[in-house]
Order: sequence, then C-alpha cells, then structure tokens
Amino acid sequence: MKRIYLSPPHLDGRERELLLQAYESNWITTLGPHVDAFEQEMCQKVGVRHAAALASGTAALHLALVMLGIKGGDEVLCSNLTFAATANAIAYCGATPVFIDSNRTTWNMDPELLAKELKSCAKKGKLPKAVIAVDLYGQCADYDPIIEACQRYEVPLIEDAAEALGATYHGTYAGKFGRMGIFSFNGNKIITTSGGGMVVSDGEEYIKKVRFLSTQARDSAPHYQHSHIGYNYRLSNLLAAIGRGQLERLDAKVARKRAIKDFYRNVLQDLPGIEFMPEAPYGQSNCWLTVILIHPQGFGADREQVRLALEVENIESRPIWKPMHMQPVFKDCRVRGGEVSADLFERGLCLPSGTQMTGEDLERVVNVLRRGNKKELISDGDQWIILDG
Ligand SMILES: Cc1ncc(COP(=O)(O)O)c(C=O)c1O
Repeated sequence: MKRIYLSPPHLDGRERELLLQAYESNWITTLGPHVDAFEQEMCQKVGVRHAAALASGTAALHLALVMLGIKGGDEVLCSNLTFAATANAIAYCGATPVFIDSNRTTWNMDPELLAKELKSCAKKGKLPKAVIAVDLYGQCADYDPIIEACQRYEVPLIEDAAEALGATYHGTYAGKFGRMGIFSFNGNKIITTSGGGMVVSDGEEYIKKVRFLSTQARDSAPHYQHSHIGYNYRLSNLLAAIGRGQLERLDAKVARKRAIKDFYRNVLQDLPGIEFMPEAPYGQSNCWLTVILIHPQGFGADREQVRLALEVENIESRPIWKPMHMQPVFKDCRVRGGEVSADLFERGLCLPSGTQMTGEDLERVVNVLRRGNKKELISDGDQWIILDG
C-alpha cells in the first residue's frame, strides 16, 4: 500500500531545467545568478524590497535576532504554539524566550495576552528586546493589534512566516509585517529547496548585513580578515535554482492546498466531534496543513487512536506542535496563558496535505476517519479494538 505523507516535496515545475542550468554554469557555490534571482523573485511575490537567501528558516530567525542586537540576558516574546526552531533561535543568542499563548479564533498569538505581557514588562522596567509572531500552519497572526502593541512599547517585531508563504492578511502577503520576516524552504513546506530559508525586509541595511554575516563576515581585504563573528548560512546556487522553479508554482500550490482543506471540510464537517482550524476573516491561509480537532466524546476516538488507525493504513498524520511551555528544554521559561495551546495540542491532528495527493489518496484518509466515527473497528496499532465511545 502506497504511503501517504503529511506534506512531501512536490517538484512540479521547471526545477529540473533550472537546476541543470545552474549545474552547467558551474556556479556550484553559495553565490550565483540563481541566488540573486530567487531573492528578487521572492521580493516581487511578497511585496518586500530586500531579501537574503539562507540555508534554513532557523538560520534566518537567528540572523534576524542578531540584526536586532539580541544578546545574553535579553528577553524575547514569542508564540507559544510553534515549532521549536522559533524559540531555539532566541536561545542561540543567549536570550530567554517568554511564551505568549494562542487565542481560539486563530490559534495564533493572542494579541491581548501580548499587550498584557508588554504592559507588565514595562511596569517591571524590563521590556523584551523583540517579539516573534508565528503564522501558524499557513495562517497569518492578527497583525493590526500585534503591531499596535509592539509600537506602543517600541519593541521590534519579527514575523516567523516559515509556514505561510503565499498567505495574506488584509490583502498583504505574509512576511511583510515585522521589521524582518522569515521563510523556510524545508522539504515539507509549501515550496522547498530541500533545505533553505530567507530573511526579507524593507530595511536595506538589515539585508546587507545578513548577507555579510551569513558568508563568514569577511572584511573587504584581499586576505581573510574578520572584525565580526560570522556564520556559514548562505543558500547554495543549486538549491536556489530549485526554489525558483517552485516559486513559479506557488499560486497553484496554494490553490491545491486550499482545495484539499475544502475537500476534508466538505466530507468531514458533519461528523460529530470534528472541528477544523478556524480560518480568520482577515485574510487567506495558504492551508499548508489541514488541521482538525478531535473531541473524543463526540467522535468516539481520541486524537492518538485516530493517528494510529491512519498509520495502520500507511497514512502519516501528526499531532499539532507541542507548545513551547510544555517542552522539557523550555520548562523554566515564563509563559502568559498556555491553556489554549495545551488543549489544541491534546486534540489537534494534522492531516496529509501534500499537493500531489490524488482523489484516491484523499478518500483513503477520510475513510479511516469515517470508520472511527461510526464506532466501528479502529486499530490501536497492534490489534483491532472496538471503540465504545
Ligand atoms: C514556525 C517555524 N519556524 C521556523 C522553522 C524552521 O525552518 P527550517 O526548518 O527551514 O530551519 C519552521 C519549520 O521548519 C517552522 O515551522
């Protein structure tokens, strides 16, 4: 039985042609015409002035924080419900993450909790040095109140749009909302370079400096001279060529991801005990992953039973991100709220959402969910059991 993955890479455009061009031109390094062109094409797509292509989204987050001068002893507020890379980048700087819970309407950072935390930091006389808001599963955070709160306390905002390329907020593309925005082109993202990332900004100085630091911070001298600590974080020209082919297909990929979500919603929304991640009215999600909540009472099986039943059918699904305040490595960090993301984690499941999924693949997924709901046989991974709801 063919395995259905969560969100595998899908090379469906001119990637091969562009990759061969790069290969034949002998620009087999971390600079070259495809890197430049990929940056320009991303700027055009996102509507931002400058971009630096890097080896990963994590590297992009790290350098965005370095740009803001984040260092040991500083605090940085960030979304609680995210992938660990967001918080790890803060730790790379020696700073301490402080986590802000989600709200139920968007599952993204709750702007009211952010405002409360900033107010309490101001009262204590220790404002954070930055805020990182994450666009979860391809849906933009609610930027109007987030930006308002950040501006009130003059704290710079970084947008972690790793999952949200092609999503919009009031008609503006994800990546535009902070001092800097970052993207990931990891293999599971909506477009991929196998591994890669980007920092985007309207601030030319930031991007110039990101390029400088990401290529080992070499001073302009004929010999190797360094006045700053540098990083080896630049994207390869070969991978940028793949990224360009992928980017040409972005709109089609967003449309396909959204169609997959609509299919799941149409087929599953009438089942009791299933709830879909809400789509906020202020924009359009790229629906990177379709995510559902499973209420065990109503549905007749819990999230883990459903995940295992899918696994038996050779279908990959995943619990949603485990919130940062529940991660052993961040257990000593402060969190504002936490209950909402803990509850979403307990019940949330990401369904296969690859753009190359066929109708037959989608049917295979929904059949398992329909079966679970009818309280028929559902597998616990080793043996078949009967759910009694
Ligand atoms: C929200 C978020 N931030 C950051 C990253 C890190 O990106 P990368 O894997 O390219 O380092 C990811 C994904 O991998 C992510 O989902």
